[in-house]
Amino acid sequence: MLKHAGDLKPREIKKGIYSVGAVDWDRRLFDSLIPLPDGTSYNAYLVKGSQKTALIDTVDPPMKDVLINNLDQLDVTKIDYVIFNHAEPDHSGSIVEILTKYPEAIAVCTAKCKGMLIDRFGVADGRFKTVEDKETISLGDRTLEFIHAPWVHWPETMLTYLREDKILFPCDFFGSHIATTDLYVKDEGQEYEAARRYWAEIMMPFRLPIQKNLDKIKDYMFDIIAPSHGPIHNKPDLIIKAYRSWAFDEPGNIVVIPYISMHGITRKMVAYLVEALTRQGVTVKQFDLAASDIGKLAGALVDAATIVIGTPTVMAGPHPTVAYAALLANALRPKAKFASVIGSYGWGGRAVEQIAAMIPQLKVEILPPVYIQGAPKEADWLALDKLAATIAQKHKENHLA
Ligand code: FEO
Repeated sequence: MLKHAGDLKPREIKKGIYSVGAVDWDRRLFDSLIPLPDGTSYNAYLVKGSQKTALIDTVDPPMKDVLINNLDQLDVTKIDYVIFNHAEPDHSGSIVEILTKYPEAIAVCTAKCKGMLIDRFGVADGRFKTVEDKETISLGDRTLEFIHAPWVHWPETMLTYLREDKILFPCDFFGSHIATTDLYVKDEGQEYEAARRYWAEIMMPFRLPIQKNLDKIKDYMFDIIAPSHGPIHNKPDLIIKAYRSWAFDEPGNIVVIPYISMHGITRKMVAYLVEALTRQGVTVKQFDLAASDIGKLAGALVDAATIVIGTPTVMAGPHPTVAYAALLANALRPKAKFASVIGSYGWGGRAVEQIAAMIPQLKVEILPPVYIQGAPKEADWLALDKLAATIAQKHKENHLA
């Protein structure tokens, strides 16, 4: 019987393999930071072998009854192994309830993950089995292989590969924040956009270790990739190709302009620069931070070569909303190569210097800003033309155009 918000009956992926997690239609914010316009899901998977049964990942604590109800519906009376690919509570947070309900179950994870789960949830040391990279556990006719994948996106993470069925259970990796009744990806366009946004918000800061982890799994055969957020990939090549592009490719001939305008001057300058860049053959994406979805901005940063920040001066510095966006971009570490600042001030201030100091993790060349007093004059429009030409030239020189 379905009786909890987020209930969706267990669904069979293959004989003896079920999706048993929860769909969170109403969640609108993750980590009190990341907007979730399409909700999310916390996927967990039950794998029955001829001798043993494993549960892969659990669910966010408010949804634990959904998981338990699903296991009851499948008449699961014994679980031998609960695999914790990742210690973050949206996947591990039901550990106490599951280990209590199934007293014979052993928690399987990396040594680092074990420490985190004990610290966070007070689980007894004796309930754990830690696994090394490439170690396996037999369920009888099925084998689980554990692939250590540090910094995807925490240091303790691993992926679980079900060898005989060629299914990868990668937890956050290859996931997307979508609440859906579809077990598998149906709308590839929607999934691509959601996965790209998810990449930007969660994986992009760890692009270099992720490159290593993508190389590590490139010789594995996958029929299915079953992440712990969003629909399952039954055409895994699509998401792997997208991840390889986001992780390895050079940025495109693209400028992203996040800006704020208080009395219209910065907006005019942004509009002028957008037009000038367009004439130079550069693609531009502008975001009015007063009204933009910060997740869409993050998604746009994935392949932008240049970021131009537009801000007026407020209390001698950048507008606080711009400062927030700059700090966020610094944390997300996109692969942009160039940055600049445009905007205006009334009588003084240090907005440009302060913004530059907020983005030390961006390995960018700072192009000459166009930061002016009052409204733009003829020389200021020319300076914006020059900035557009410089950006286009830099993109060409770096083979980004
Ligand atoms: Fe979905 Fe890193 O937790």
